[in-house]
Amino acid sequence: MIVMNENYLQLQASYLFSDIAKRVTAFQDNNPDRDVIRLGIGDVTRALPAACIAALHAAVDEMAEDASFRGYGPELGYDFLRQAVAEHDFQARGIDIAADEVFISDGAKCDSGNFQELFAPDTRIAVPDPVYPVYVDTNVMAGRSTGWQDGRYQGLVYLESTQANNYIPAPPKDKVDAIYLCFPNNPTGSMVTKDQLRPWVDYAREHQALILYDAAYVEFIRDASLPQSIYELEGAKEVAVEFRSFSKTAGFTGTRCAYTIVPRQCQVYDSQGTAHPLHGLWDRRQSTKFNGVSYPVQRAAEAVYSPDGKRQVRELSDYYMANAALIRQTMSGLGYACVGGEHAPYVWIKANTDSWQFFDLLLNKAGVVCTPGAGFGKCGEGYARISAFNSRQNVETALERVGAALSSA
Ligand code: MLT
Repeated sequence: MIVMNENYLQLQASYLFSDIAKRVTAFQDNNPDRDVIRLGIGDVTRALPAACIAALHAAVDEMAEDASFRGYGPELGYDFLRQAVAEHDFQARGIDIAADEVFISDGAKCDSGNFQELFAPDTRIAVPDPVYPVYVDTNVMAGRSTGWQDGRYQGLVYLESTQANNYIPAPPKDKVDAIYLCFPNNPTGSMVTKDQLRPWVDYAREHQALILYDAAYVEFIRDASLPQSIYELEGAKEVAVEFRSFSKTAGFTGTRCAYTIVPRQCQVYDSQGTAHPLHGLWDRRQSTKFNGVSYPVQRAAEAVYSPDGKRQVRELSDYYMANAALIRQTMSGLGYACVGGEHAPYVWIKANTDSWQFFDLLLNKAGVVCTPGAGFGKCGEGYARISAFNSRQNVETALERVGAALSSA
């Protein structure tokens, strides 16, 4: 008899964004004439930068000739991309990250979900609340929760991120072993300062803990004094891995390319307390279970760092950030308290009602999809997230419709 992994029975409902997609499909089936504008999942809508497209075409042409054809690539990424990442995203900012500390992958979702495989089953995990659901669900799948109670998974430590702390949680009083942090934050759009990040690095060093730092939205930071990487903080390389992605930066959600930084100094410990480099473990995991990102896609990602690519990527993020500003301004004007949208493509709105009621209201009355805050955790109840990833025209139309729907509600 094949026995299931019963940890899966603990999972509540389906994955948040699949759940929303099903509801939207049902709405469209019942209302085939209604035009639906999606400001829910953070999926980009604009074309890949021209520099990436040119590189993609050129790489596809290489695949058309025996002489330049490539088969299996290196599982951890081609050197040309690992070098480009290390040089442009880190060394150029004074951060000493080497190319062999860059692990190319097909998504920050996969990496942030898979990384916990390297930890012992009884690892004590801390997550923010509200939280990107992948961090939580993957740890539940791995058996790190004893059950669901009062809207939370028992066994996980939740770090409340609310209006009271400006959506920046402080380290817990209790000892935890692994901490997920995400800045610019998904879903609240909040951004941390170096001074606010410092206690986390100190905490991790004091407790021999590990920070899993998700910086997938770094391209949207609009204040150079804010930390672009956790490694801007001294001592972070011993206690943090960092996830980055080309998805939101350069429109690669469908193209798939991302990377994780695992510094060579970063340690994990066996049950006897002996230190082991995390780098070797992640290398072993990836080279066993992953076969790399395709050559043309890695060439397209490399083009992000060309002079044209840099300019085009900035234009892309400026475009979405103008949407974010419009969303925040309009929703504030309608009397809804908002945060985010200043260094992140998400606006976090106090819904003044139950999250899913707000979602239903916007869908049914305005034909607009948002993400109910409750889907991100207990502290998200009463909130909704609106994504800036859409065309300007769609965002303007959506906001007009939302304004009308909320005024008549
Ligand atoms: C989101 O909407 O939170 C993200 O698009 C999800 C993801 O990147 O996987």
